[in-house]
Amino acid sequence: VAREARSGFVVAIDGPAGAGKSSVSKTVALRAGLSLVDTGAIYRSVALLAQKQGVDLDDADKLAAIALALPIRFEMRGDVNHVLLDDAAFPTRDVTHDIRTPAISTASSQVSRHPPVRAALLDLQRRLGDDPRGALLEGRDIGTVVFPEAAVKIFLTASPEERARRRQRELAEKGAHMTLEAVLQEIGARDDADSTRDVAPLRAAPDATQVDTSGLELEDVVARILTLIDEARAKRLSAESSGNA
Ligand code: DC
Repeated sequence: VAREARSGFVVAIDGPAGAGKSSVSKTVALRAGLSLVDTGAIYRSVALLAQKQGVDLDDADKLAAIALALPIRFEMRGDVNHVLLDDAAFPTRDVTHDIRTPAISTASSQVSRHPPVRAALLDLQRRLGDDPRGALLEGRDIGTVVFPEAAVKIFLTASPEERARRRQRELAEKGAHMTLEAVLQEIGARDDADSTRDVAPLRAAPDATQVDTSGLELEDVVARILTLIDEARAKRLSAESSGNA
């Protein structure tokens, strides 16, 4: 169909926080030669600009206006995916670290609940995903909403215990100590909120390959996904050479 012929090669990786999405996505994108679009960083950038401009996190219209004009770019340097905002409010414009604070994590989740904000970001995400090299997009709703026609769809999960252990370790590295039980409870509450929200809830696409990363090494997960990418590329090439594309 015409729609498929126009779109580039897209890999969608979705899943909850703590499933290992960002390290898996970065490694796969680098090895497969795909551009990497961290859609969580897009929601985080909207939250950061809202904070700088003093916009209320309940003001869906103002937030949507920020989202619609978001001057964001990604640039992979070494193994760091830099997030750049072309905004006068930022002297350095490199917000890679500014968007990872706990305050921005919370704010980005609030921002992402508003349907007008999600709608405003759809076009941007589709443009960023339209790369001649092919693109890997990581997020919550890539395979279900942003690129339902993606060539490869992965839904990464891990048991709540494993995700809680990872999160507990991350927190400890920052000097914050929580019991495993408290972390488990926090993760459970966030899972509930994410999967029951009205718009684009966290959910695996029916045609996604589910990969449970509990007890798996990063290399094992990466290898599985690279195999799926190779298969999808081969299928696409043979479709093109037989004149179906
Ligand atoms: O993946 P992350 O933690 O950087 O995402 C930050 C927030 O953005 C997260 O709370 C959920 C939201 N988000 C979303 O709603 N849809 C996406 N495709 C990606 C992120």
